Order: sequence, then structure tokens, then C-alpha cells
Amino acid sequence: MSIPLSTEITQRSLTVIHPEGREFEPHRGSHGQISTVTATNTFLSNSPVSIKLNPLSRTKSEHPRKEGSQNIVNIDSIHDSKPLHCLQTILEFPSITDCQDKACHRGIEDASLSYLPSFTLNNGVKIPAIGLGCFTGVSQEDQEAACHWILTALKQGYRHFDTAFIYNTEQVLGKAIRDSGIPRNEIFITTKLPWNHPGRVEWSINESLKNLGVDYVDLYLMHWPFSVHFDENNSLPRDGHGDLLEADPPVPFEKTWEDIVEYVYKTGKAKAIGVSNFSLKTFEPLLSTNKTGIAPVVNQIEMHPYLVQNGLKSYCEERGILIEAYTPTGYSAVLNDPTIRRIATRYNATSAQVVLAWHVARGVIACPMSKSAEHQKENITLTILEKEDVDAISALDKNQRFGNPPNERNKVWAWTMEQLGWE
Ligand SMILES: NC(=O)c1ccc[n+]([C@@H]2O[C@H](COP(=O)([O-])OP(=O)(O)OC[C@H]3O[C@@H](n4cnc5c(N)ncnc54)[C@H](OP(=O)(O)O)[C@@H]3O)[C@@H](O)[C@H]2O)c1
Repeated sequence: MSIPLSTEITQRSLTVIHPEGREFEPHRGSHGQISTVTATNTFLSNSPVSIKLNPLSRTKSEHPRKEGSQNIVNIDSIHDSKPLHCLQTILEFPSITDCQDKACHRGIEDASLSYLPSFTLNNGVKIPAIGLGCFTGVSQEDQEAACHWILTALKQGYRHFDTAFIYNTEQVLGKAIRDSGIPRNEIFITTKLPWNHPGRVEWSINESLKNLGVDYVDLYLMHWPFSVHFDENNSLPRDGHGDLLEADPPVPFEKTWEDIVEYVYKTGKAKAIGVSNFSLKTFEPLLSTNKTGIAPVVNQIEMHPYLVQNGLKSYCEERGILIEAYTPTGYSAVLNDPTIRRIATRYNATSAQVVLAWHVARGVIACPMSKSAEHQKENITLTILEKEDVDAISALDKNQRFGNPPNERNKVWAWTMEQLGWE
């Protein structure tokens, strides 16, 4: 149902609300009409939003569409601006598919992630809320296939890609980006310092840039807090038990952070820098000894409805550090959870859409990996969840890890769960 908003109506009280209740007053044009471009840009940079007519000013003639507890109106008749289409589509449909199809008619470069919300990192850099995970198998076949599914994602509107030196997908990501013809500055690239490169950070970032074929990345992460023995021919050196062999002597992560600041951030080789797999236990010494004046912008950790990590999330957020979720779908265990399925049915969405919407509603960036064009599209088609559904999903927490579970010696790669602070 389409209800055009007239100027008369827009002169009344149309408020844009953040799911957590924060309100934004849209900017108005000279005749009092909603000047949507500015307003949408503002709130899209924060979180998904919905629009409601202020109940006090509503009259019968406005006929807002009732959806849940919100009165949702179609606003496509005001202006034909891209962000407005986006907003309208987010509101009117559970998906942004239609919005992207419209944009695709005008060429690939228009199908940009301006249709998805972005978050602002603590140094002012913006990051699209959903990125494509680029971890795949290491065979030649896997690498070649990755180039195709990454290109498919670019065509579908993805503009944020999460790779790492150790994934071996830096080169194919760079190739897919060049093949897409999309300008470099419209794409957000994350890569990571591998566990065996602490002590050789300057060399490592240069290798990553060479692999990607770019002169900067948008985000560079210390992949793990531990350091592994460097062997040029083997990125997975093992000790006698089969665990990863730690560097001797180990390079403390505090020193690695200093090197990343010096050789990656200050040189402009990354627009922002952060960490991955840090816990409350490892964050404390990192931050308390940090003399660089530069704090991490994100902590990329495993997070999904069975691993909610509220304590670490709050700790990071209080310090302006955003959480990026890896293994964000929680695989089939979470996607088949009866609560998730029930909520998905109610929103006419898939389980993956609901789980990703849950991340974004909690202020978390999510990097799902998908080789399937259909899943990729689903994953950037955000649903807006009611707060009670966000809470119901958070209550599914089991403190359960899927991505990097400990082995029989309670070790995850090179460190024990205790050393990592993951218990
Ligand atoms: N920092 C770290 O240490 C670290 C560790 C692990 C991962 N990561 C990053 O996080 C990314 C994602 O992690 P992940 O692969 O473990 O977890 P994930 O993205 O949650 O799961 C990927 C799996 O989910 C399936 N999937 C994706 N979208 C789906 C949908 N809409 N419906 C149904 N199934 C769907 C994929 O299959 P299809 O291909 O068939 O869609 C694939 O099997 C990685 O690629 C990497 O970039 C970082």
C-alpha cells in the first residue's frame, strides 16, 4: 500500500526513530517539507531506522500503514533521491532488494552500500554494517572460485570485504575489485596481520597491499594476540603436540600494536586499525600500556546468538571500540534455532536475515561469508527488528563457540583458553 506524503503532512511531525529510541528530527526544506537527503544520510550512518508519524499530529487523511507498533508510511513521492529510495524501501519491504534492483538498472556503481547502514569508527571513518567474509579454502580451485563469488557480491551491492593475509584471498579480492570497475574509494577493505608476522609488521603490510593491488586498506587488524614462529614456507608450524608453535621469544601484543600504529596507521597504509580475538583479559594490558595515543577502532570476535559476549561488548563500547562479528550466522545450529525461525516467519524473512539484523540492531558490524548469490543478497537485505525480538534473540546465549573451538589440550591454535581469556 502506498500513501504519498504531501507537503502538508510533512510540515507536521514526522520523526525518524532509532530502534533504541533515539529520535532524529529530519531536516526541512524552505517550504517546511522534509529535506530527506540530509536526514537520511545522518541516520543511515548510525543504525537502521524507522519512520513514524507523530501520533499527536496524525489526522485521518494521512492513513499511516500500521505495522507492529509503528505507523509506517511510504515516502517515495517526495523526492527521487537515492537515500530516500533506500529508506522508503527499508520501511516498505522487509528487504532492500527492490531498491537495489532500481539502482542496478542505472549501473553497478549505483548499487552501493549507501542502502545499508554504516557505523562510524572512533577515528571518524565510516564502515558499512555488513561486510562479506572472504575466508575460503586454500586450494587453487578455491581461490579461483573466490574471485567469482566476490565479484558477484560486488555486483549485488557489497562494498565492505573482510580478508586477511592468512586467508590467501587478498589477491583475488583485489582482482575482483578491479574487474568490477568500482572505484577503490567506494570500497571498504579489511585485512589482518597474520599470527606469524609480529616483529615484521612493516614488511607484512607492504605484502598485503601488494597482494591486494592497492595503496591503502581501510581497516587493518592484529589477527590474534599471540605470535607464532616465522617460517617462510609454513604459516602453520606445529609443536610436538600439534599445536601452533609460538615464536621464541614471543612478541608481546603490546609491541605489535605499537608497530601497527607506527608502520601501518601513521604511514597512511590503513585508514583505521584494530584487533581481533581480544578478550577482557587481553584488552586490559593492551589499553593500559598503550602509549601511542591511538586506540583500536574495532575488536573482531566470534559473535552470534549462541555467543552473545555482553561483557566484552560493553567493555569495548564504553571505550569507543566497536565489535565486528565473525561467524555471525552461528551456522546451521543458530539458523535452525526454533526461536530464530519463529521470529523469521513473523518478519517474512530468513533466519540469516534475522540474525544479521540482530547484530546491526545491537550496534555490531557483521561479516557473513557466502559463496551463494542468493544468500549474499539475503545477507545485505536488512530487516528491522522490534526491541523485544532483539532481546529474545540475545537470551539464546549459550557461550558456545563454533569458529575456533579449543582442542583436547584446551588450546585454540597457540594459546590455551585461559591465556586467551576466553573461558
Ligand atoms: N578474525 C578471525 O579470527 C576470524 C575467524 C573466522 C572468520 N572470520 C571472518 O568472518 C567471516 C565469516 O565467518 P564464517 O564463515 O566462520 O561464518 P558465517 O559467515 O557465519 O558462515 C558461513 C556459512 O554460512 C552460510 N551462509 C551464509 N549466508 C547464509 C544464508 N543467508 N543462509 C544460509 N546459510 C548462509 C555459508 O554458506 P553459503 O556459502 O552456501 O552461503 C557458509 O557455509 C570469514 O569469511 C572471515 O572473513 C574472522
